[in-house]
Amino acid sequence: MKLNGTMRVNEKGHLEIGGCDTVDLAREFGTPLYVLDEMCFRQNCRDYYLAFTHKYAAKVVYAGKALLNLAICRLVDEEGLGLDVVSEGEIFTAHKAGFPVERIYFHGNNKSPAELAMALEVGVGRFMVDNFCELDLLNNLAGEADKVAGVILRVTPGIEAHTHEYIKTGQIDSKFGLVIENGQAMEGVKRALELEKIDLKGLHCHIGSQIFELDSYSHTAEVMMAFVNQIYEETGFCLEELDLGGGLGVYYAEGDQPRPVQDYADALVGAVLDRAEKYNIPAPRIIVEPGRSICGPAGTTLYSVGAIKEIRGVRKYLAVDGGMGDNPRLALYQARYEACLANKAEQPLSETVSVAGKCCESGDMLIWDIKLPRAESGDILAVSCTGAYNYSMSMNYNRLPRPAMVLVRGGRAELITRRESFEDLIMNDLVPERLAKKTTV
Ligand code: LLP
Repeated sequence: MKLNGTMRVNEKGHLEIGGCDTVDLAREFGTPLYVLDEMCFRQNCRDYYLAFTHKYAAKVVYAGKALLNLAICRLVDEEGLGLDVVSEGEIFTAHKAGFPVERIYFHGNNKSPAELAMALEVGVGRFMVDNFCELDLLNNLAGEADKVAGVILRVTPGIEAHTHEYIKTGQIDSKFGLVIENGQAMEGVKRALELEKIDLKGLHCHIGSQIFELDSYSHTAEVMMAFVNQIYEETGFCLEELDLGGGLGVYYAEGDQPRPVQDYADALVGAVLDRAEKYNIPAPRIIVEPGRSICGPAGTTLYSVGAIKEIRGVRKYLAVDGGMGDNPRLALYQARYEACLANKAEQPLSETVSVAGKCCESGDMLIWDIKLPRAESGDILAVSCTGAYNYSMSMNYNRLPRPAMVLVRGGRAELITRRESFEDLIMNDLVPERLAKKTTV
């Protein structure tokens, strides 16, 4: 398993993260347990800040959909990044955490009137408008609230990125954004410029997630700049901001080759500056929205190994006490992960096993065919790079409570999301009076 952030193997031969022995963490907080390496998370924020903001005065906006809770909002705020949110729930979380509202970028392809009204009321920095309905709705609501909304219009550049079908977004046939190629994006720009309560600041695009090819990004930047120039020529309007989305890939397992953030910044900014010069227009301020590459490698999930089942001549299954409920990514995207036995981190990798979850579903697998030391029930399995799209996509299938999350740093572990209790599971259940008599609840 690749060691991320502050991970190391300690004197006891145990996996340690943030100075905390993970075997002790499992004992103290129980399993499954999400462990977040604070210094790794912060370092990833800093890498982006240095590569984009320090070097090019570009803005970095952390994509909260990858992982968000109150403590994460505080870390992102302290590191000086903006926050990309996609729902009223995410805005509520950020607001409660005291995140500066003007640094919030509000995304979403179907924002409800209530969500838009709430965002106007709290005063989010930018509305990332996805379609004509939203543009008109926002203009009306802003009128009622006597406010002007700072808008970035989401467009579809028609780029096919090399990634899983479900996480591609830049292609023409997408639920996101207005298409450049068929003229609808230009109609959107013109409409936005006409509307009184809309202050059009720029354009946005996002081609997908878990992408390694920098060429896809520079090509996207070129397509976007050609459009910025076309807007300038047709309307005389010069866009100030260009948001090129997130998506930089991370290392999950062998074969993944993430690029340094600085190369990504140089490629994106280089392409934008080059085109600005070619078209002789001012270069817009660049914005990027990384999620996975900030929180992904900072997260590790600890599980207890339970049943071990060998189907002779076929396969050996290790079943753990979590699974698709806390990490649905293999089931959804055939995602690959690496893992180690945290209590046997120095022992030789002597057998090939597959790690299964505990849900009633054959697809509930975490890892197929991984080499581990000989495992026994009670061992602690640590799956790495689970910081992104794990907790944020977790669910209660089979009424499994969601795990807790601890933030580790310098030998200290602090709970930042408590484990769901069985009481939490029934918290919203109601029993009609006529049924209550017949039950034992
Ligand atoms: N900006 C926009 C508009 C996005 O749609 C996304 C991700 C991001 C930024 C952040 O992308 P990142 O840097 O994290 O790749 N659940 C899937 C990923 C879905 C990505 C959705 N949008 C997964 O687990 O792989």
